[in-house]
Amino acid sequence: MTQSSTLLAEPLTLQNGSVLKNRIGKAAMEESLCDENHGPSVQLISLYQKWGQSGAGMLLTGNVMIDRTALTGPSNVVVENDSNMAGLKTWAAAGKAGGAQMWAQINHPGRQVFAMVTQEPVAPSAVAVEIKGAKDMFATPRALTEDEISDIIKRFAATASVMETAGFDGIQLHGAHGYLISQFLSPHSNRRTDQWGGSIENRARLLIQAVRAVRASVGKDFGVAVKLNSADFQKGGFTEDDAEQVIKMLNAEKLDYLEISGGTYEAPAMTGAAGDEIPTDLEKKRASTIAREAYFLDFAKKARAYAKMPLMVTGGFRSLSGMEAALKDGALDIVGMAKPFSENPNIANDLLSGAVTRIDLKKIKLPIAALTSMAEMAWAKTQMHRIAAQKRPNPYILGPFFNLVSTQIAQRKAAKKYRAWLETG
Ligand SMILES: Cc1cc2nc3c(=O)[nH]c(=O)nc-3n(C[C@H](O)[C@H](O)[C@H](O)COP(=O)(O)O)c2cc1C
Repeated sequence: MTQSSTLLAEPLTLQNGSVLKNRIGKAAMEESLCDENHGPSVQLISLYQKWGQSGAGMLLTGNVMIDRTALTGPSNVVVENDSNMAGLKTWAAAGKAGGAQMWAQINHPGRQVFAMVTQEPVAPSAVAVEIKGAKDMFATPRALTEDEISDIIKRFAATASVMETAGFDGIQLHGAHGYLISQFLSPHSNRRTDQWGGSIENRARLLIQAVRAVRASVGKDFGVAVKLNSADFQKGGFTEDDAEQVIKMLNAEKLDYLEISGGTYEAPAMTGAAGDEIPTDLEKKRASTIAREAYFLDFAKKARAYAKMPLMVTGGFRSLSGMEAALKDGALDIVGMAKPFSENPNIANDLLSGAVTRIDLKKIKLPIAALTSMAEMAWAKTQMHRIAAQKRPNPYILGPFFNLVSTQIAQRKAAKKYRAWLETG
C-alpha cells in the first residue's frame, strides 16, 4: 500500500505572491540541447513536456547563457535578445502545461569554461581552474575590466527581460558552483583590489548589482531568485561565514527564494563527490556534509535564523522521509532535486503518491573526485537525452566511464560546431 506525502504536497506562496503547487523543485541541469541558432531545440521542448507532467511545483531550466562568447557547454541555449522568441515561448509553455512554475536559470561561466569551448575565458582575476587529471581542460582566464563587468550586469538584466516576455515565471541568477558570480564571491578566484574584490561587500557587488538590474528590467510579479553556495570547500575560498553575510545582504533584495548548494568544479560538493588535495579540516567538513542525506541541510538550518526569503535546498535528497523531515524541521521550504529527475521523469508524482519512498540512483565512483562528478553529470545528461528522444531512462547503457568518454567526444564535435556558429556572428 502506498502512503501519500502531506508536507511535500503543501503549496508555497513566494514573495511575489505567486503560488508553487507543492514543495518539489526540479533543480537546474544543463541539458545541452540547443538548436542550430542556440535557441531551444525540439528535443529540449520534448524534455520539458515530459517534466511538465512530472508533478513538480517548479521546474528550473539548466544554464541559459547571457553571452554567446561565454558558454558553460557548447550546446547551451543563449539568450541575448528576442531572436529565438518563438522557441522560448514554446519551451516555457511546455514546462508550465501541468501546472508547474517554469523558471530559467541564467548564467555566465567566467573561468569555468572548457578550453574546447573557448581559449579566452574571462574572470575576476587571472586564476585558472585546476583539476587533478584534467590539467589542459581549462585555459587561464584574463581579469575583466570594470566596463566589462558593467556589461555583464546589463546582460543578466536583458536576458531576464526576454525570459519574462517568453512566459517564464521567473529567473534564477546562478551564483553557485564556481561560475562567474561565485568566482567573484570567492577570495580564491577573486584577487581584485578594486571595488569588486577584497571585502565581502565588494566580492558580492556583482551579485547584488545583477539582482537589482534584473529587478529593474522585469515586472514586479516576475520571480527573481539566486542559487548560492553555502561554501565552496576550497582553501582560501568562500566560507559559510561569507555566505551568511551575502544572505543578509540579499534579505534587502526581496528574492522570491534562495537556493542553497555548494562546491565548484574543483571541489564538487554539489554532486556529493569527495574532493582532492584540500586541507584536512575542509575535507572532514565536506565528508560529513556529503554523508548526510541532503548535503547542505545543516547550513540551511543555520541560515533559517537570518534568511528572510523562502529557502530551497538542493543536493542529495533521496528519501521521502528525509524530505518530509527537512520540511517539518522548517529548515527549508522547497526540496530541490536534480539527478532523480533524469532517472525518473515522473519522480515528483511518485513521491507525492508514495509510490516511491527511496530514490536509488546509479552509483558512480572513479578514482578522482572531479572525474566522478563529471561522470555523474554525463550519466544524468545521457538519461535526459533519452527522455528528450521519448525513450525511457536506461541504467544499463554504457558503463559510466565509457559514457563519460563518449559524451566528451560528442562535446568536442559540438564545440567545433559552436565555434563555427560564433564566427557567423
Ligand atoms: C547533468 C547535470 C547538469 C547540471 N547542470 C546544472 C546547471 O546548469 N546549473 C546548476 O545550478 N546546477 C546544475 N547541476 C547541479 C544540480 O542542480 C544539483 O545542484 C546537483 O545535481 C545536486 O542535486 P541532486 O543530488 O539532486 O542531483 C547539474 C547537475 C547535473 C547532474
